[in-house]
Amino acid sequence: MVDVAFTRAEAREEEVTVVIDVLRATSTIVQALDAGYRRVLCAASLGRARELAAPGRVLAGERHCERPSGFQLGNSPSDTIPPAGDELVLATTNGAPSIVRAASLSPVVLIACLLNLDAVVAAIGDRDVQLLCSGTDGHPALEDVYAAGRIASRLPGPATDAALIACAVARAYPEPRAALAASADAQVLRSVGLEADVDWCARESVTTIVPQAAALTDDVAVVARTHREASKETPEHLARNL
Ligand code: MLT
Repeated sequence: MVDVAFTRAEAREEEVTVVIDVLRATSTIVQALDAGYRRVLCAASLGRARELAAPGRVLAGERHCERPSGFQLGNSPSDTIPPAGDELVLATTNGAPSIVRAASLSPVVLIACLLNLDAVVAAIGDRDVQLLCSGTDGHPALEDVYAAGRIASRLPGPATDAALIACAVARAYPEPRAALAASADAQVLRSVGLEADVDWCARESVTTIVPQAAALTDDVAVVARTHREASKETPEHLARNL
């Protein structure tokens, strides 16, 4: 069965959950791992991210799309090139908490955006899947539903009504840039001078990385290129604050 959750509040237990936050958290994670970061620690709050600060870790994130004070990076995917450390600690409003939530509910959590679209479809295969849209402040986000529809329409399993709705949204746009540009989140990014991020995140299947997430604590999830790397013990000197 192929299902879509339009917001984090709808997330439920499932064999495979695919977390989507096209603008911009999952695009940033995919880009960061592609750029060479070994792992991304997703924190459920800014405070938790600050506690995770340690040598070799780079703090990244946003509030209202802008870099939080004391953080080295914002949430622009291009900020992660080149890597400034071994691990990225990421705290965002919707995407990072959605990944933390999914990791508490599903044994397999994949990270998706348009940048890795083809590879995500291949990785899901014919398994039952929940496509979890991070949404924005508890409401559905157009760009996430669009991406969920692009994925769902290529999967073989029977689709729920929610998945059929997402497929219809995907069909409504001639190309990804149009769907992203029409969203409220793109409008906010434009208002803070970050329109280039919309173009960056609208690129399709430019990497084959399909990151996997594993729960570390109840408010931190680790994301890496493989589940093994995501669930690997964190070295003691970095684990003190977990
Ligand atoms: C989020 O997690 O809420 C988003 O990624 C916000 C953003 O675009 O930075």
